Amino acid sequence: MTSLLRLSIPSDAHRWSDERRLDGQSIGLVPTMGALHSGHTALIERSKALCDHTVVSIFVNPTQFDRSDDFDLYPRTLEDDVALCDSLGVNAVYAPTVDAMYPEGFDTSIDPGSLAHRWEGEHRSGHFAGVATVVTKLLTAVQPHIAVFGEKDFQQLAVIQHVVRDLGLPVTVVGEPTVREEDGLAMSSRNVHLTPDSRAEAISIKQAIDRVLDRSTSTDSPSDIIEQVTTDIQQAGGTIDYVAVVDRSTLEPVADLRLDTQLLVAAWFGGVRLIDNAALVATE
Ligand code: PAF
Repeated sequence: MTSLLRLSIPSDAHRWSDERRLDGQSIGLVPTMGALHSGHTALIERSKALCDHTVVSIFVNPTQFDRSDDFDLYPRTLEDDVALCDSLGVNAVYAPTVDAMYPEGFDTSIDPGSLAHRWEGEHRSGHFAGVATVVTKLLTAVQPHIAVFGEKDFQQLAVIQHVVRDLGLPVTVVGEPTVREEDGLAMSSRNVHLTPDSRAEAISIKQAIDRVLDRSTSTDSPSDIIEQVTTDIQQAGGTIDYVAVVDRSTLEPVADLRLDTQLLVAAWFGGVRLIDNAALVATE
């Protein structure tokens, strides 16, 4: 028999959390949009290692999609997701409806500021306001002590950390390293939409990143790296949205490689948009 609790209304999530907090127990939240894969499993295991109780939220958030076809086609596998959460020992799944999250008259949005302007923000209008608003609502309902997010969405993690700091939200944001398929493709719920051909081409993102990470000289500048990664992915059949080498805290482009530099990549493969990233350090 399952011990997994299903919550669908913010006030129920709030009450469940209040009871545990009053007992002095800690709560970890893993916010997701469902279609769970091994990347999510790693987030869940991290939360379980850090907290007494783990809640997985499953909500395909309409306000963070800039294209209605992307929202409509986003994979929805709620019952499988719940079964996976149950098998992993998750304590509760919080899966609110759109109406419960955005009741009639809902008209508030969190503007996450300049960190959200570039890269994903530039290519997906309104995306981070949608993410910041929904994550703040999920944190308010579940009141976790920690919330775990994947580092694959590097800018999202930075934006959420920034929002939590600026609003003084009483939660610790934890980043979990990207989980990859055997051939290096970063796990993503969108991978299911890749055709066999575009799936084969998509490996070029990680291969291009690895070529940069394997470099043995310090002669590469950010512009050399951007050019090389762009060429590698384009030659494999991908269409680039952006390749950038940025300061890890400001997400602004850098002219020289330093310790705190991150490579960000977004590219399309046969109609599927994928993102990835890697930490770069200057070599000797
Ligand atoms: O990364 C995601 O799955 C979503 O952007 C999140 C954080 C659950 C907000 O909807």
